[in-house]
Amino acid sequence: MSRAAVLAGLGAVVPPREITNQMLSERLDTTDAWIRTRTGILKRHAVEPGGATSDLAVAAGEKALKSAGLATVDLVVLATATPDHPLPGTAPAVAARLGLGHIPAFDVAAVCAGFVYALSVGAGAIAARTAETVLVIGAEAFTSILNPQDRGTAILFGDGAGAVVLRADEDDEPGALAGFDLGSDGSLAELISIPGGGSRQRSGGLPPDQDDSWFTMQGREVFTQAVTHMSRSTKAVLEKVGWPVATVDRIVGHQANVRILHSVSELLGIDKERAVVHLDQVGNTSAASIPLALAAAAERGELLAGHRVALTAFGGGLAWGSAALVWPELATG
Ligand code: ACO
Repeated sequence: MSRAAVLAGLGAVVPPREITNQMLSERLDTTDAWIRTRTGILKRHAVEPGGATSDLAVAAGEKALKSAGLATVDLVVLATATPDHPLPGTAPAVAARLGLGHIPAFDVAAVCAGFVYALSVGAGAIAARTAETVLVIGAEAFTSILNPQDRGTAILFGDGAGAVVLRADEDDEPGALAGFDLGSDGSLAELISIPGGGSRQRSGGLPPDQDDSWFTMQGREVFTQAVTHMSRSTKAVLEKVGWPVATVDRIVGHQANVRILHSVSELLGIDKERAVVHLDQVGNTSAASIPLALAAAAERGELLAGHRVALTAFGGGLAWGSAALVWPELATG
C-alpha cells in the first residue's frame, strides 16, 4: 500500500438567480427549443451584479469542509477562469474568508479542465508530503465575461462552484484518486479565448477595446475537439489504473453539451445511462462543472459508495484531463 489523496468531503453551490431559456429568447435571436435540442440546457444561474467568483468559492468551500468534518486544511487550490481580479489570484482571499489562516493558496488557470488539473495538483501535494489535507475548488462567475449579444455563447454558460476536500490515506481506501491523464494543445488556443486584456494587448499601452474583452468560442470546432480528447483521455486514464471500460459505473464529464457527453460514451462503448448529466440545470459552469455534477449525482443517488467513477474534462487551452476513483461514503455538504 502507498500514500494517496482520498476524497473526504464535497460541497457545491449555485447563485439563486435563475436564467431560463425563455428569458434568453426574449432578448436574443434564439429559442427554448433550439437550446434544449442542440445543448440539453434548460436553465443556468448567474451572480447578481457586483457578485464574484470568490463568493461562490467560499460558500462551496464551507460546505466541503463541513462534509469532511474539518475546520482547516493545509492548502487551497482554486480552479477558475473568472478570478475576482486579473491580479492577485483569488485563492488567498478565499482561504482568508474561510478562516484558514496563512496557508498556501493559489489559482489554477485551465478553463473548463481546471478542476481536474487542480485535483492533480492537490493529489501531488499530498504525494510530496507538503500537505495532509487540501481544499480543491472549481468556481466561476462565467456570466461576467459573456457578450450578452452573442447567442453562440450567452446561452451556454452559467455560474457556480463546487469543492472537494482531499486527505492523505492509503491507496486502497475508497475515494483514493487512482490516476490522472492530462494534456493540452496550445496550437488551437484561439478556438476558446478572451482576446484582449492580457500582456499581448496591453504591452501596446492602450486599455482593451470592450469588444476584445468578451469570451469567444468557435463552437462547432470545439465540439469535435471535446469529443476526441475527452474520449481519448478517459481511455488513457482507465488504462493507467487497469480498469476495463466495461467496469466503469459512472462517467462524470465536463458539462458543456449533452450531445458531447453521449458521443463520448458511445466512442468509449459505455452505456449512455452511465454518463452523469447535470448541465440541464446549470449550463456549462467551466471549472465548477465537474464538482457540481458530482454533488448533484451524489444527492440523486446516482453515485454510490463502491462505484468506479471516471472524471473527464475539456476546454480552453486547449486543455483536457481525466481522473479515476472509487466513490467513497461521503456526507454531502
Ligand atoms: N440559437 C439559434 N440558432 C443558433 C444559436 C442559438 N443560440 N447559436 C447558433 N445558432 C445557429 C448558427 O448560426 C447556425 O446557423 P446556420 O446553419 O444558419 O449558420 C446553426 O445554429 C448551427 O450552428 P453551429 O455552431 O453549427 O451549432 P452546433 O450544433 O455546433 O451548436 C454549440 C453550437 C452548442 C456551441 C456546440 O457547437 C457546442 O456545444 N460546442 C462545444 C462547446 C464546448 O464543448 N465547450 C467546452 C469548452 S468551453 C471552455 O473551455 C470555457
